[in-house]
Amino acid sequence: MTIPSSSTTNRPQRSRGLINALVVVAATTCIVLVLWMLRATQIDPYIKKTADLSGSPENGAKLFRMNCASCHGITAEGLVGPSLLEVSSRKSDSKLISQIVSGDTPPMPSFQMEPQAMADLLAHLHSLN
Ligand code: HEC
Repeated sequence: MTIPSSSTTNRPQRSRGLINALVVVAATTCIVLVLWMLRATQIDPYIKKTADLSGSPENGAKLFRMNCASCHGITAEGLVGPSLLEVSSRKSDSKLISQIVSGDTPPMPSFQMEPQAMADLLAHLHSLN
């Protein structure tokens, strides 16, 4: 009587398991990519529109005091959130806009505002130093 060795019976099964796992990983990656692209195309026109406007630093300062100062400090020196002094030298406008609207960095909430208000806020962020 011959007993089949475990390595010959197990191998096909194990590689099928690996292929299944790879298929799942590939499918998940595709879904994540599609969702990411959908969001990028939603945010892009907004960034473009904002970039075309010229902002009022005075109104931006007002918006900052109302929405951001509770976490970033009244002079943006940092509190719960990091200091935003010279933040525009560290981050591009599109990065700043994405961070403000996305809600990707909790506890910072996602802020939805008109492009003009965003342009004003950016003008204020540019003045922080
Ligand atoms: C509830 C608190 C909270 C509020 C309100 C808030 N933030 Fe934040 N913010 C944070 C925290 C916390 C971080 C750090 C997030 C991280 O990097 O993980 C952050 C990060 C940032 C950054 C990135 C800083 C850097 O050096 O990379 C910017 C820019 C920013 N916030 C702008 C704003 C603006 C503008 C507003 C108002 C419209 C705002 N935040 C309101 C908590 C807050």
